Amino acid sequence: AGACEGLARQVAIEVVRETGSTNADLMARLHALRGPVLLIAEKQTAGRGRAGRTWHMEPGKTLTFSLAWKFALPLAQLPGLSLVAGVSLAETLAAWGIDARLKWPNDVLKDGGKLAGILIEAAPEKDNPSHAAWAVIGIGLNLDASPALQAQIGAPIAAADSLPENRSFDRNRIVAALLNSLAKALVQFEDEGLSPFIERWNCLHAYAGKPVAILDHGNVLHRGRALGIDHAGRFLLDTDEGQVAVMSGDVSLRLA
Ligand code: BTN
Repeated sequence: AGACEGLARQVAIEVVRETGSTNADLMARLHALRGPVLLIAEKQTAGRGRAGRTWHMEPGKTLTFSLAWKFALPLAQLPGLSLVAGVSLAETLAAWGIDARLKWPNDVLKDGGKLAGILIEAAPEKDNPSHAAWAVIGIGLNLDASPALQAQIGAPIAAADSLPENRSFDRNRIVAALLNSLAKALVQFEDEGLSPFIERWNCLHAYAGKPVAILDHGNVLHRGRALGIDHAGRFLLDTDEGQVAVMSGDVSLRLA
């Protein structure tokens, strides 16, 4: 019954003109929420990125939204969610003809530039902490890479500027499609875990076979050839010392 119930889940959609961070807003309201909520902001003034970084956006040119979702799973089972969200986002973009690829754990790249970022924050459900948890899945997607945004970020960015929906700037349709795909993926993850997503992630891997370095706060932990993710969502690389599996967390990855 789980899957059918999940697919029928109603998501409340809220749109605000401006806020600091849609992730922060939903995290602050988690325990008062009665069901899933999608919060879209036209403008974010203090967007949060992974590892304490800032997420820059330009109103009208970047989609910024967060989805709060309650899982009948303990918090300890949610880390794989970032891979699930990445697969869902990249597959939806790919279906629109965008060459979206995944950089572990969950950046979406196009032509080597960052097309979208995903930030997942989670907390145990107050009344049932050992069996349920909330996650806030925040997504920032560049629809247009202006030189100003590019300069602010200082790293290569890419834009989903060839989306058919985007041509008429129908951002509502883009968000609706991303939400439908994400909700379906979240229900599948709750029911079946990570296994349906491993192969799909590996098919979209941006760096398959390439030399990469795994960094911990700027220090190189490992260097090797990128393989892909294993059944537990760990990143595998072939090093001179043999195969290494890296857990997500504060580590980051770059081409070497
Ligand atoms: C990253 O690549 O570091 C993650 C970026 C995530 C940005 C999105 S924009 C909507 C949501 N609200 C936030 O404050 N951050 C996420």
